[in-house]
Amino acid sequence: MNVTLSTGKVIPIEMHKVKIVQQTNLPSAAQRLEAIREAGYNTFLLRTRDVFLDMLTDSGTNAMSDNQLGAMMVSDEAYAGSESFYKLADSVKEVLGFQYLLPAHQGRAAEHLLAKAFVKPGDVVPMNYHFTTTKAHVDLAGGKVLEIFKDGALETASSNPFKGNMDPDKLKAVIAQYGVEHIPYVRMEATTNLIGGQPFSMANLREIKAIASQHGIPLVFDGSLISENAYFIQQREPEFKDATIQQVITELMKNVDIFYMSGRKSAAARGGLIATNNKKLYEQILPWLPVYEGFSTYGGMSTKEVEAMAVGLREMTIQSIASSGADFIAYFVRRLEEEGVPVVTPPGGLACHIDAMRFLPNMPQAQYPAGALAAAVYIASGVRGMERGTVSMDRDEQGNDVPSDLELVRLAVPRRLYTMSHIEYAVDRVKWLYGLRNLIGGLQFVEEPPVLRFFFGRMAPIGDWGEKLAAAFQADFGDTF
Ligand code: F0G
Repeated sequence: MNVTLSTGKVIPIEMHKVKIVQQTNLPSAAQRLEAIREAGYNTFLLRTRDVFLDMLTDSGTNAMSDNQLGAMMVSDEAYAGSESFYKLADSVKEVLGFQYLLPAHQGRAAEHLLAKAFVKPGDVVPMNYHFTTTKAHVDLAGGKVLEIFKDGALETASSNPFKGNMDPDKLKAVIAQYGVEHIPYVRMEATTNLIGGQPFSMANLREIKAIASQHGIPLVFDGSLISENAYFIQQREPEFKDATIQQVITELMKNVDIFYMSGRKSAAARGGLIATNNKKLYEQILPWLPVYEGFSTYGGMSTKEVEAMAVGLREMTIQSIASSGADFIAYFVRRLEEEGVPVVTPPGGLACHIDAMRFLPNMPQAQYPAGALAAAVYIASGVRGMERGTVSMDRDEQGNDVPSDLELVRLAVPRRLYTMSHIEYAVDRVKWLYGLRNLIGGLQFVEEPPVLRFFFGRMAPIGDWGEKLAAAFQADFGDTF
């Protein structure tokens, strides 16, 4: 929620109070340099003891509510028939309107089950944009992802409120080209993670659903950030300006055949699920659930997390909770814009994204600008972000790098975790780094795994720019921070 101060300044305000805290540590620039070296210049490989603000992801890192923690204490540990499952099923029915529920240990497990049940070799899956794990599962099943976003979706400096929209004409063309028999489903991701957490509009979803239905193709909805997409629809699409988050979600779900989500984001727990009202589709997925996840009443999740997700799903429909991350992100983006730092606009649903191609305009993608910038941000601040660029794309079959559409450094804002002074600190250090951007050099792989290389790949700086950056920091700020 935002409030307007007497000066006219608008700030996001926390609609919660802190009950339990965890100490953090702010290592010195010398310690940060040492830590990133040990991590192979890959922020995934840092230890959290070396991280001040963990903005790697909002996945599983949101602050939980007292009601969620309370529910966890009364979970029903049973292999089959757990009452915790029925509480989650009630929430799914109430909030999302689906009768059949398949729990899974997290979002990618849901993607695995969907790919296993529906994707055959030679199939194509049209989507507004891919997510890394989504693409991996479609690829592993022998299918191919087709990204059919609208023109302008990849412009990082934009005022388009719905860069996550799918292009209906491209969808029609894909159906004509490949034939319905090769399109197991059309997937809409709310909000499109890799292009900056950008939402799609209700009007767009309705249009896409109408085309898919006309051809008998199921619409799959990735709702990992559903409450954020619903919040943006309420804020940006005039038809919904007076609607509640629940009303927007109910309207969204009218267009969905299969819903799935990572429960680690909007739902502030650690789990995942698939839900549908289509018995036939449900029965196609169900047999795979015990093979890969666990019995159908826990699906690989701890029953404590099942309980937490049941509560989290209901709470994500509360206005001040649905907006809690997005309003902080909007503030973060606005402040960096004020400082002249190139960021993705409009602000999205999970993070503040820095545009590394504009931050480091002379660096070729072959030197991984987003990876280099993520490492540089860490050296400059102890803030851990995530590379979302070419490092996050695996090589093609010929072994060539696949240059990413965008080179972004994602500074995720887990919901209700960090405060305004944390955001101001991050803004200040990124601004400082922008002033010294000419110091930042590229990266090269030292160890490179074949699949999802961004997780475990190790890199080395080209030259000694890491040392130079740490030395510049010490010169400006002294030894301590
Ligand atoms: N779909 C979307 C849109 C996601 O953002 C994620 C995860 C997944 C699916 C997979 O879910 O992690 O529970 O298996 N995004 C995380 C991130 C990892 O950091 O953005 P998961």
